[in-house]
Amino acid sequence: MKPPAGRRRSHGTPLFRFSSFYSRLRFILILLAFVAILPPLFFHFRLRRFHQTQLSKCGWLNNPPLVCAHGGDSTNAFPNTMSAYGFALRSQVDCIEIDVSRSSDGVLFALHDRDLQRISGNSTSKVGHLRSNEIRELDVYHQSGNSNIPTIEDALTLISTSVRQVILDAKVGPPLYEKGLAKDILSAVEKMRCKNCLIWAKSDSLVRDIIKLSSDVTVGYIVMVDPHTGARTSLFRMKGAKVTGVYHPLIDERLVKTLHGREKKVYAWTVDDADSMTRMLHARADAIVTSNPTLLQRTMQDKRTQCLEEGFSLTR
Ligand SMILES: *[C@@H]1O[C@H](CO)[C@@H](O)[C@H](O)[C@H]1NC(C)=O
Repeated sequence: MKPPAGRRRSHGTPLFRFSSFYSRLRFILILLAFVAILPPLFFHFRLRRFHQTQLSKCGWLNNPPLVCAHGGDSTNAFPNTMSAYGFALRSQVDCIEIDVSRSSDGVLFALHDRDLQRISGNSTSKVGHLRSNEIRELDVYHQSGNSNIPTIEDALTLISTSVRQVILDAKVGPPLYEKGLAKDILSAVEKMRCKNCLIWAKSDSLVRDIIKLSSDVTVGYIVMVDPHTGARTSLFRMKGAKVTGVYHPLIDERLVKTLHGREKKVYAWTVDDADSMTRMLHARADAIVTSNPTLLQRTMQDKRTQCLEEGFSLTR
């Protein structure tokens, strides 16, 4: 029996309508699902971005950098004097950087040529031109209290047990330059039993001498802009050194990650304004050397309060 012609004619059309209805429905449902998923997706990424921004702004709180006073608190006292160290200790810095220069007769003083020139008013005088008795006679007229130039031993006696780290910044000068300097500095460190001393210098050959002569003292080399070529000095140039002292404008998060990847700590110098201090916190430097430790401490405290108020939670 043949099916009625009408039914046969209409056979394709309802089926077609049927499938078109469902494909439209499917389309609408997918669209709805898509629209429904958008806001949570949007907020998910917004939240993730918020957390990332917060982590880059506040992550340092989980591992705060050492606050290092350059020459003591050189904002409130003449650099490298006992009163500058005293101010720094009273504000409970983590670390103090001492400039180390050798007199012509081989005594190590906590003194920078630049500061000697300020004291003597002679812009060409150098520590290495003077004998130790001449340096002892110098008077830091700016200061009340103890105004003598301390030797390295005096300085270490005062500070080394009261801070987490002492940085000895070894200066190479006339008349002997590097000759015997590594040995002299190491003898002072050993004699004072300074276990938390870190020695660094701009002179690579001096740093290499120190590494060669001692296996248990912490050593650093300097990364800066080479004054002759204008380029950054090489990041990895001494295997035995655990610390790099980096000129702060060169520091960003990537540089810190690169150095950390090779197990080198990054100490930023010399960071004296609040904006650069904040930049060093965000870049996650391991230590920040500053002539104004109270400004750094205040900046860190302000940022900490701000981060905690915005809901940042410390992981430890
Ligand atoms: C300044 O210091 C240099 C180097 O020690 C010395 O040769 C020169 O005589 C000094 N000048 C004055 C005016 O004392």
